[in-house]
Amino acid sequence: MSVIVLTGLQWGDEGKGKLVDLLCEFATVSVRFQGGNNAGHTVVLGDEKVILNLLPSGSLRKNVRCILAQGMVIDPSVLLAEMKRVEAGIGPFSPDRLAIARRAHVILPLHKQADALSESAKDGSSVFIGTTLRGIGPAYQDKAGRRGIRMVDLVGSPEDLRSRLDVMHRYWAPQFEKHGQALPDPSEAFELCRTWGDALAPYIADTSLVLHSEIERGSHVMLEGAQGTMLDIDHGTYPFVTSSNSCTLGAPAGAGLAPSRISGVLGVTKAYCTRVGEGPFPSEDTGEMGERMRRAGHEFGSTTGRPRRCGWLDIAALRYAVRLNGVSYIAITKLDVLTGIPEIKVCTGYALDGETVPEIPLDRIADATPVYESVPGWEEDITGIRDLHELPVPARRYIDKIEGWLGVPACLVSVGPERNETIFVKNPFRD
Ligand code: GDP
Ligand code: IMO
Ligand code: MG
Repeated sequence: MSVIVLTGLQWGDEGKGKLVDLLCEFATVSVRFQGGNNAGHTVVLGDEKVILNLLPSGSLRKNVRCILAQGMVIDPSVLLAEMKRVEAGIGPFSPDRLAIARRAHVILPLHKQADALSESAKDGSSVFIGTTLRGIGPAYQDKAGRRGIRMVDLVGSPEDLRSRLDVMHRYWAPQFEKHGQALPDPSEAFELCRTWGDALAPYIADTSLVLHSEIERGSHVMLEGAQGTMLDIDHGTYPFVTSSNSCTLGAPAGAGLAPSRISGVLGVTKAYCTRVGEGPFPSEDTGEMGERMRRAGHEFGSTTGRPRRCGWLDIAALRYAVRLNGVSYIAITKLDVLTGIPEIKVCTGYALDGETVPEIPLDRIADATPVYESVPGWEEDITGIRDLHELPVPARRYIDKIEGWLGVPACLVSVGPERNETIFVKNPFRD
């Protein structure tokens, strides 16, 4: 039995979906533990490109049990549409194959509206984040404010549901009014919730218990982080973050799993760096090189289609992420995108108060300047390479350097979007 948490070490979109799908060849349980459909996890299967927003990325494999755990916020209309899409490819879900946490919170239409209101507020009452507008922040606000609707409420007493919706709507009313917007009708929300409840009832379960019994049976489990460490609400570039604990530290609480059950942490980083939305990104390249990475890496949001900001690998931010997450091994993705760049820059530390600090000084980013080193690039196409030793020498050296800087070994190197475009150095479920 191995329980592996796969977590993004940067600002999201590191290629988590591809790797989870790949590693679920060896695992039989695939879990999402936080976030919602702000995530866009891409799996490429031949000519087909599947973007998963809520279902874990192991869901494209028939023999894998999928769990949407209680740390998530779920928009049931998005989930039902996604289930349909996946079912068209691999056959119907059954309660044995899909479990949705009773305690996961529900995203309602009002949450999406509140997200848009907050993002467009002209009165200085909120910070513009560049969110995905999926209602994530407002749904987590209601969770923390103890007026949220949970999956279990969709299938419970109608009276309780009505009174919970009433509380929630009364809370939001003044804020909608202030912005001159009509609050959605609570009775429409009630009808919607009951319809969702009818459709999802068979899958709503105590997922902590499901996970526990799988682990007791000796199953290999893949816990899939959404977003990335630098977007974590407690540990990221606050306030330019998402509204959940999107690093490994969120996995035990979000999945309902004791930390002692986790056997390893696989941290994922691109061979360069991207960010979508507002907020600090010190190693961003707003010039020709950033543009080149965007083009070669097709760096446009999987969820919103927004162009991703591109820049150089930030080792100082990765050192922080490796320490915080307790990373056991890393996966380096999109190495192929750097092909043809003659000199690859890497931020290896930050100049702050007259010295160079090794970790990104998150609380003083504005006072710090990235310190760069350069390493030689390579020209050869590497997408067909499956053995580390066959990589061009500079590419191999780049991997060695990253391992050395971070003090953790690379277990996977990804050289293309497809399952097979991967160099396996070590299999976290086997070796
Ligand atoms: P996630 O949110 O971490 O799952 O990442 P996304 O799916 O949002 O973005 C990663 C993008 O890069 C997707 O379009 C993947 O198909 C693609 N991708 C993943 N790994 C590689 C790789 O090694 N090389 C290239 N060229 N593309 C990759
Ligand atoms: P995956 O799982 C990249 C960013 C948004 C915004 C901030 C807050 O595909 O890596 P939110 O809608 O969560 O309130 O937005 O977080 N963001 C992501 N950026 N990848 C993601 O997910 C993201 N999910 C949210 O762009 O800056
Ligand atoms: Mg993504």
